[in-house]
Amino acid sequence: MINKEMKKKKVFLRTFGCQMNIRDSEVVVGLLRKSGYKICADADAAGAVIINTCSVRQHAEERVWSLAGSFKTDKIIGVIGCMAQNYKEGILERAPNVNFVVGPADIAKIPGILAKLAKDKGIFARKIYETDGIARPEEIYHTGFYADKNHGFVVISEGCSNFCSYCVVPYVRGALHHRHYQDVINEIKMAIDKGITSITLLGQNVNAYKDGNTGFTKLMELVNSIPGLKTFTFLTSHPKDTSIDLFKAIAGLDKLKKDLHLPVQSGSDRILKLMNRSYTKKFYLDLVDNYRKIVKGATLTTDIIVGFPQESENDFKDTLDLVKAVRFNAAYIFKYSPRPQTQAFKMADTVEKKEKEKRHKLILELQKEISGVKNVRIKNE
Ligand code: 5AD
Ligand code: SF4
Repeated sequence: MINKEMKKKKVFLRTFGCQMNIRDSEVVVGLLRKSGYKICADADAAGAVIINTCSVRQHAEERVWSLAGSFKTDKIIGVIGCMAQNYKEGILERAPNVNFVVGPADIAKIPGILAKLAKDKGIFARKIYETDGIARPEEIYHTGFYADKNHGFVVISEGCSNFCSYCVVPYVRGALHHRHYQDVINEIKMAIDKGITSITLLGQNVNAYKDGNTGFTKLMELVNSIPGLKTFTFLTSHPKDTSIDLFKAIAGLDKLKKDLHLPVQSGSDRILKLMNRSYTKKFYLDLVDNYRKIVKGATLTTDIIVGFPQESENDFKDTLDLVKAVRFNAAYIFKYSPRPQTQAFKMADTVEKKEKEKRHKLILELQKEISGVKNVRIKNE
């Protein structure tokens, strides 16, 4: 039986994962509000619970399995996002109290699904799953809802076609495709009308943006010239699509924050090859040199995976050396997590848990020391 709160149309939404998921949750909130739903911060007070999920590492998935099982069955429970795409109807088998499963390309259907489920009065409530969508309708980005009143995330591209061997994203979010630049610009103008002054352009690999003749540099120039916008930035970049021309553009755009997040993943050429990253340690170090020469006062952050299959002591030392050489402002360090579907999953997960933990700790401590010194320097600059 669906409880009274659903009649009051109260929804609790919990988000796991990256900025793309945070933006997707905003989109869902925007769509729900348009359909008369209220978002509430207390799950107990809600008639429906939606969990927006992440599949990048196993740990994130485990948290969702236990959360999904913790809600009372009188609520409508939905699992959306990357895990929904990853497990499809398998979610309904493993978590029997879940009522609906919606993949990232189908989120526009959520208000309609809630309405259908709320009509089901019996205890044998229907189960719904939607994971066949290919492209999202453009309208979903125009609800005008942003969680922060000053800052907005704006998606420029969805999916990824890079197939880094450890990464589940191309399988759960599909092939890379780009929004039309006019739509992106219109969304930003509309957000500015609502009081937003700062924007983050989002994509798994923003540097590969292309809409006809409009590439990423051109898009940034267009964004930079929007009246009322004070600052903007972008996430995430791939070294293989980053170039001196991009750095020159970054240097020349007055509203663009001089912060680059450039995931390196490993400092070992052998491991980078196994990861299918298509660059070498030297290529990365040269990029960093050029970036810092061209973009004065710039900050640099990165992602690193430790314990990738076959990562030897020497490979790990190469990563430590790279971290020492580059001196990132901050680094996000992850222990390798095998993901079914991916190419790396076929390789034996050779680095033991204890060893992964040791490497994770060593690199974290090194980076902490560097970040501490750097942050003091930045404050004094
Ligand atoms: N195991 C550990 N870390 C991963 N990442 C992506 N896939 C995995 C995985 N299977 C990390 C990468 C990426 C960040 C978002 O998550 O470092 O840049
Ligand atoms: Fe995953 Fe690589 Fe695409 Fe990033 S670029 S989302 S790590 S496949």
